[in-house]
Amino acid sequence: MAGTACDLRWERLFASGSCGKICNKLIFIALRLKIDSERLLIFLLEPNGIGATLKRDREKWDQRYSEEQGPPFSPDPWLVEHANLLESGRCLDLACGRGGNSLFVAERGYSVHAIDISLAALLELQNEANRRNLDVQSIVMDLDYCSLPVESYDLVLVFYFFDPRLMDAIRACLKPRGLIIYATYNHRHTSVRPGFNPAYLVPPSGLVPYFPDFEILLSEPYAGESGNITRMLGRKRHE
Ligand SMILES: C[S@@+](CC[C@H](N)C(=O)[O-])C[C@H]1O[C@@H](n2cnc3c(N)ncnc32)[C@H](O)[C@@H]1O
Repeated sequence: MAGTACDLRWERLFASGSCGKICNKLIFIALRLKIDSERLLIFLLEPNGIGATLKRDREKWDQRYSEEQGPPFSPDPWLVEHANLLESGRCLDLACGRGGNSLFVAERGYSVHAIDISLAALLELQNEANRRNLDVQSIVMDLDYCSLPVESYDLVLVFYFFDPRLMDAIRACLKPRGLIIYATYNHRHTSVRPGFNPAYLVPPSGLVPYFPDFEILLSEPYAGESGNITRMLGRKRHE
């Protein structure tokens, strides 16, 4: 189911509370978990995802986030470097982790949907966003199973997450003139982390071919000390 886009407006879904909705023949269930008096954490689940991948992957990532030390909310330095491109509007941070990037852009005026499979990471993010009074909505979601709303975002951030099946949906969820800021590991990463699943690494052809209808503002196919990171800045063209 990864890679589909739909015209569901998430706000409507969230506003309606725990419910089922039909979208692209999928039934979504939005569960609302109140974490303080102000803001909620949303679970957006597709029924097939509940018992299978969601559980297994969430356990793996939850464990990693509970064991990991270090400053949890720092933005990626490459995003900070390009902060001059940020404007305001709606942002989607895909596979956001603890959401340092979400908080960074929210502080610059964006209203952020922050998606990740890890409940542990998103609880930390949402608590921090609430503490700073920032407009961040955390959404627990398995990107292997769920769809993204079309033409809904002015900015999409993807840092260190790549699944070729999602690329159509990523393109489609941006509004015309919307900006994508993408940095993730490429095929050379197996020389740094030999066990890494090559299916989740950018192939030698790079990220650019996935965005044919975009103006490419910057393409860095082999960044980082080991050349194992691919980075791209692009803007969706008008039709
Ligand atoms: C390498 S981390 C990157 C986190 C963050 N973007 C950053 O740069 O710090 C990859 C993230 O993908 C999330 N993830 C992995 N599989 C996922 C899935 N199927 N659906 C949603 N998130 C997923 C993990 O929980 C993790 O937070």
